[in-house]
Amino acid sequence: MGAALDAQTVSGENPAAEALVREQYNHISPENLLKWTEVHPSPGTYRFTLPDAFVEFGEANDMQLYGHVLVWHQQTPEWVFQDDAGDPITADALWERLEDHISQVAGRYGGRIKYWDVVNEALRDDGALRDSPWRTILGDDYVAEIFALADKLLPDSLLVYNDYSLVVPAKRASAIELILDMRERGIRVDAVGMQGHYNLRYPQPSDVDAALTEFAAAGIDVLFTELDLSVLPSEWEIQGADLDDTEEYAERLDPYRTCLPQEMSDTIAAHWRGLFEVFIKQADNIEAITFWGVSDAQSWLNNWPIEGRTNYPLLFNRDLSAKTALEAVIDTAKP
Ligand code: GLA
Repeated sequence: MGAALDAQTVSGENPAAEALVREQYNHISPENLLKWTEVHPSPGTYRFTLPDAFVEFGEANDMQLYGHVLVWHQQTPEWVFQDDAGDPITADALWERLEDHISQVAGRYGGRIKYWDVVNEALRDDGALRDSPWRTILGDDYVAEIFALADKLLPDSLLVYNDYSLVVPAKRASAIELILDMRERGIRVDAVGMQGHYNLRYPQPSDVDAALTEFAAAGIDVLFTELDLSVLPSEWEIQGADLDDTEEYAERLDPYRTCLPQEMSDTIAAHWRGLFEVFIKQADNIEAITFWGVSDAQSWLNNWPIEGRTNYPLLFNRDLSAKTALEAVIDTAKP
């Protein structure tokens, strides 16, 4: 069971969260610390203070380490794809940059980081290959070629293809095809990462169950890499011409600013219970489950897709006390 850690937690500035992580988890992921913009912000500049602290924290506490992320279309600086004049670079030049990046960043830790997200979000929601500078410059087979490179450079880490919405059948089918095609060509892909940014409406536990069954049938191990559960309404759910831009509209969008009603807390606990019943049932095919943050206070879902709301997506409250949901989760794991 894992949590994604932020800069404050790994650098000792949030001792209470750090203690909770030690007590509750044995697997950690660096929320933003190893993304390209953070670790390699300009050509030749690497910043390892926080990643090193992340790795040392995990090792000091006997935790399994997850590396996130080597290739993604977001949080990657524009210079990566450009020459000095700002024009797109050639495929050869981009391969050289990527090989340098993977060697410096992931190579620094070797097998100490057990898993790496090698490619994140290469597929669109309809299952087609996403357009991105990686694809434009390297060509349509870039995912397979990047995994082959990662295998060469990271022989002691497990290589993961990570994406969201893999509960959606069309997208999942493409992910399975992508992974099996690589394996048929002798390219190592060790597991799939299901991000798991869920909400109370979708997916239902049965959708997650179906996804896990299909991955198991295809022989693909699963990690839940970024699990959280948004409990807030989306804009389209409360839209009404008469309400737009009024205080009532703002309140409906952000209904639990001051507290979470008991009834809502029970609904959330029941949803987590349903998900964990599935996880327990499918445990043989799940290598790790990582929550995307430690407490609700730190979650990105307070600011996305709308800024400044009060969301309750994790198992620990803002004051680090356990939610009712935690009991429900633990309950599912009892024999
Ligand atoms: C994606 C990325 C994560 C994170 C979330 C939002 O899922 O993989 O690193 O940025 O979006 O926080």
